[in-house]
Amino acid sequence: MAAPPSVAIYPGSFDPITNGHLDLISRASRMVDLLVVAVLRNQSKHPLFSVEERREMIHEATGGFSNVEVTSFEGLLVDFAASRGASMILRGIRAVSDYELEWQMALMNRRLRPEIETVFLTAGEEYSFISSNLVKEVASLGGSVTGIVPLSVEARLQRKFAARAV
Ligand code: PNS
Repeated sequence: MAAPPSVAIYPGSFDPITNGHLDLISRASRMVDLLVVAVLRNQSKHPLFSVEERREMIHEATGGFSNVEVTSFEGLLVDFAASRGASMILRGIRAVSDYELEWQMALMNRRLRPEIETVFLTAGEEYSFISSNLVKEVASLGGSVTGIVPLSVEARLQRKFAARAV
């Protein structure tokens, strides 16, 4: 009997997706049969981009990967992962400072559903300083984010902040 396909969830806010996220998607897509990039629908955060805009941007940036799917979820991550038949949750670690929160979330998720493993991938060193929050701050102040986010994201950031300036 053939083994079931390996499915991993890469969850996050992705507000917006950066080249650091893309680096992780590129490496993770080689590890599993299906990689589901899942945008959290969270009413309590105040994102710059809507969930639909974030999904579109991820879609545009990951079009070259045949085994990457883009979706959104709400509720518990582990329940969403189970509903998709995933055995892995992937998270990126940029620096030691990321580790504490990631460690807490991984242990909580394991307590909720021990059959789902959290797997940490280290971000490529050239991306280890990038965060979506910094990208938004720099772009909002007119700084260049070229090479830090995909081109389509750069264009959308410019449009978003130009629209806010009028
Ligand atoms: O990109 P982010 O904001 O660091 O992603 C955080 C995310 C989406 C992974 C986390 O907030 C999450 O899993 N939220 C879903 C709700 C949930 O399952 N909470 C318990 C996690 S221990």
